[in-house]
Amino acid sequence: MPQDTIHAHAVVDPNAVYSLGSSPGESQRLKRQADELALESETLLDRVRLRPGDSAIDLGCGPRGIIELLHDRVSPRGRVVGLDSDPAHVAMASELVASAGLDDVEVVQADARCTALPAGSFDLVHARTLLATVPQPMQVLAEMVRLTRPGGWVASLEPDAEHSIYYPHHKAFDRLRELFVVAFPRNGADPLIGRRLGQLYRLAGLEDVGLEARAAVYPPGHSRRTIAADLLRAMRPQLLALGAADEAELDSLDAAIRKHLDDPDLVVMPNLMFLAWGRKPSVR
Ligand SMILES: C[S@@+](CC[C@H](N)C(=O)[O-])C[C@H]1O[C@@H](n2cnc3c(N)ncnc32)[C@H](O)[C@@H]1O
Repeated sequence: MPQDTIHAHAVVDPNAVYSLGSSPGESQRLKRQADELALESETLLDRVRLRPGDSAIDLGCGPRGIIELLHDRVSPRGRVVGLDSDPAHVAMASELVASAGLDDVEVVQADARCTALPAGSFDLVHARTLLATVPQPMQVLAEMVRLTRPGGWVASLEPDAEHSIYYPHHKAFDRLRELFVVAFPRNGADPLIGRRLGQLYRLAGLEDVGLEARAAVYPPGHSRRTIAADLLRAMRPQLLALGAADEAELDSLDAAIRKHLDDPDLVVMPNLMFLAWGRKPSVR
């Protein structure tokens, strides 16, 4: 079960409890995700005040995250930090930053629950699809608030997976969903966190909290059309370890789902995405 209390810093290795694990396939999916969710992320950034010269951090940035979007908004003279606990993602994000010549961007490896960065050092602290994938999102949110300067902003883009549409119905998606609800929350991650963000933000002491939801329908050929099958692939080692399915079943399920996804009549709306933002109270 998700835990919402702000207690002592966790000591568990963040990479050991992260719901999607670490694999080259998943890292490539996350690289694509930067383009797939760019519209929603731009909308979220429009809701907060971020200007040239400001400082911003992307917690759990993965191989790309919104590092480039933040760079565009705070340039010139701004500062951006990308932070991730997975060394493979830190290396990929660092390579991206170097090859794009983003010299005001720094990428660091750290635990988003306890970054050891100075308190109050950012105008915006952001995380995308991080709170949904960690066992104790309130620990991350508390750290987000700590890192924000008084009067600065915290912002998130997170899924809520209860409502998905795969129409016309195919039974392969029922089995996929069954396996997803076994594997994804195995360490306490909450795939329905989107709807809880406003409540969690206020609990964390933020004010002027805003919440919106977006739903996207992905046509054949769109890289996000396969997200459910891709996430199942990412969690295959965990599904096998849990004994929830065997290799043969996962192979045939993967093939059935991908074949069905090729059908141009299939409508695919994988989940809702929630945008949340809130301000850290100014010192009075
Ligand atoms: C679902 S991915 C999202 C990546 C990126 N934010 C995006 O939207 O494209 C979550 C990322 O958070 C990282 N992560 C998970 N737990 C973490 C923690 N405790 N501290 C820092 N990063 C963490 C993972 O390594 C992964 O790169």
